[in-house]
Amino acid sequence: KRILLVNGPNLNLLGTREPEVYGHDTLAGIEALVSSVGAELGLEVRAVQSNHEGELVDAIQSAREDCAAILINPAAYTHTSVAIRDALSAVALPVAEVHLSNVHAREEFRHHSFVSPIAAFVIAGAGIQGYEFAVRRLATLIG
Ligand code: DQA
Repeated sequence: KRILLVNGPNLNLLGTREPEVYGHDTLAGIEALVSSVGAELGLEVRAVQSNHEGELVDAIQSAREDCAAILINPAAYTHTSVAIRDALSAVALPVAEVHLSNVHAREEFRHHSFVSPIAAFVIAGAGIQGYEFAVRRLATLIG
C-alpha cells in the first residue's frame, strides 16, 4: 500500500524558516523520516510539496488512483482553502492532518482549519514526530 505525503506552501523553507517556531529539520528530513517509518510498516510513500494551491489539488486528486491514505500538512492553506478540503473529500481516503507547531497556541487566524472536519485525526505541535505518529496511525487505519 502507498501513502501520499503532501506538504503545502513555504514548507520547502523548513530548516531556515522561523526555526524557533518550526524547528531545524528540513523538508528533505521529514520526507526521509516518513519514508523510513512507512517502509518499516510495509508502506510506500510518495512525497509532494508545492507552494501552489492548484498543484496541491492535482496531487491530492492523483491519490485516488494508487494511494490508500493521505498525510497532509496544508500549511497556510489549512486556514483558507476550500479547494484543498474539497479535493480531500473527493478522494475519500483517510486523511491525517499534521502541523509542526501548535496552531491553537498561535494567532487566532490559525485556530480554524477547513481540513479538520474531514480528517481522520489531527496532530499539532509535536514537531516532525507528529509526522511519524501520523504514518503509524494511518498504517493502523488502512491495515
Ligand atoms: C503549519 C501552521 C500553519 O499555520 C502555517 O501557515 C504553516 C505551517 C505548521 O506546520 O505548523 O505554514 O501548518
